[in-house]
Amino acid sequence: MTPGSATNPQRSGRPPTRLVQVGVGAMGRTWLDAIARHPDAELAGIVDLDRTALAQAATVHDLPTNATATSLAELDVAADAVVNVTVPAAHLPVSVAALRAGLPVLCEKPAAPTVADALRMAAASRATGCLLVVSQSRRFLRGVAAIRRVLPDLGAISSVSCAFHRAPRFGGFREEMAHPLLVDMAIHHLDLARLLVDDRPATVQATSWNPPWSWFAGDAAADVVVTFAAGARFDYAGSWVARGAQGSWNGSWRISAEHGSVTWDGEDAPEVVTADGERVVPTLGDEPEEVDGSLAAFLALVRGETGSEDAGRGVVPASDIDDNVTSLAMVAAAVTAADTSRPVDVADLLSRSRAEALVTEPDPALRAGLSDP
Ligand SMILES: NC(=O)c1ccc[n+]([C@@H]2O[C@H](COP(=O)([O-])OP(=O)(O)OC[C@H]3O[C@@H](n4cnc5c(N)ncnc54)[C@H](O)[C@@H]3O)[C@@H](O)[C@H]2O)c1
Repeated sequence: MTPGSATNPQRSGRPPTRLVQVGVGAMGRTWLDAIARHPDAELAGIVDLDRTALAQAATVHDLPTNATATSLAELDVAADAVVNVTVPAAHLPVSVAALRAGLPVLCEKPAAPTVADALRMAAASRATGCLLVVSQSRRFLRGVAAIRRVLPDLGAISSVSCAFHRAPRFGGFREEMAHPLLVDMAIHHLDLARLLVDDRPATVQATSWNPPWSWFAGDAAADVVVTFAAGARFDYAGSWVARGAQGSWNGSWRISAEHGSVTWDGEDAPEVVTADGERVVPTLGDEPEEVDGSLAAFLALVRGETGSEDAGRGVVPASDIDDNVTSLAMVAAAVTAADTSRPVDVADLLSRSRAEALVTEPDPALRAGLSDP
């Protein structure tokens, strides 16, 4: 795989961004479709350990055999960036291999199975000078964008709550995890809560359990309370074995603030009720949502069309790995709190994870980057 410059002009009048996608499983197929839809993206190649999945995806997306491989190292195509849709355990090795090849990476959530590994990924991003963005697709819901537009008028946030009740049957890695709901799903809701409250999470309390009829090996239900630095609280109640009425995949939300409330069913437009009883339904925008939105934001950054300045790596997005580590730390804190029945201090957890990363990271150049708090 070689970084290089593309020649085939697309709708924007500029060459397309050539993407290699690693991981073409269930979610990988959604990403392949999103890449095919985006006018400024071109699928340069695909990688997967599973040769059957690879062959099927190559047929659907009309790719020649030499644009497929079972590892990035074996893939012999010119590329500008990598989309990593592998299982969480492969996020670090695949993303770091791409960064070392000089390619920016858009990686599916959760960034890594541990906060220590996510910190190692952040160190690799800094050391290589290449962007590593974690895709938190629910940040790109139009309902979330509408809530963020109205929040400044509602003053200080007192509490945010989210109820999530679904009963999906995935099979695969989720059914073997110790905390499938917290690790694979609640990362979306905890990350959204952090985005909406816009503050540093201070402590996390949690309980988790597995109802007798659960088809997951680990705990598929949990209650979590996050206290933010300025005092706002996030109350989360979630279940992946909730038979009967099915809620939105995005959760059902209420935000209580100084000058009113926002309620959102996770699907339609949110509703604002001000302190004096006025009801307002904000208009939804027409921006691309979920994976399409996440891909568009990443491409805009890689193509230098948007973003804020970062000394080392040019422009960085809101869900850059450095920022996303805090959402992952909220999840890890919830898991530890559920396992120990004690509240967990998020800053302490991050310090312990940094110490663990310094021990587990074999590359001295990356260890140097891990010393910085
Ligand atoms: N944003 C969302 O709403 C959303 C929804 C579903 C899944 N996801 C995330 O997407 C990721 C993939 O989930 P999935 O459901 O597609 O899983 P999956 O098991 O269906 O597919 C993962 C694929 O990765 C491949 N793979 C594993 N290790 C690899 C490696 N080292 N190199 C190359 N390929 C490798 C597997 O062979 C498999 O084909 C996970 O991180 C998951 O949490 C996100």
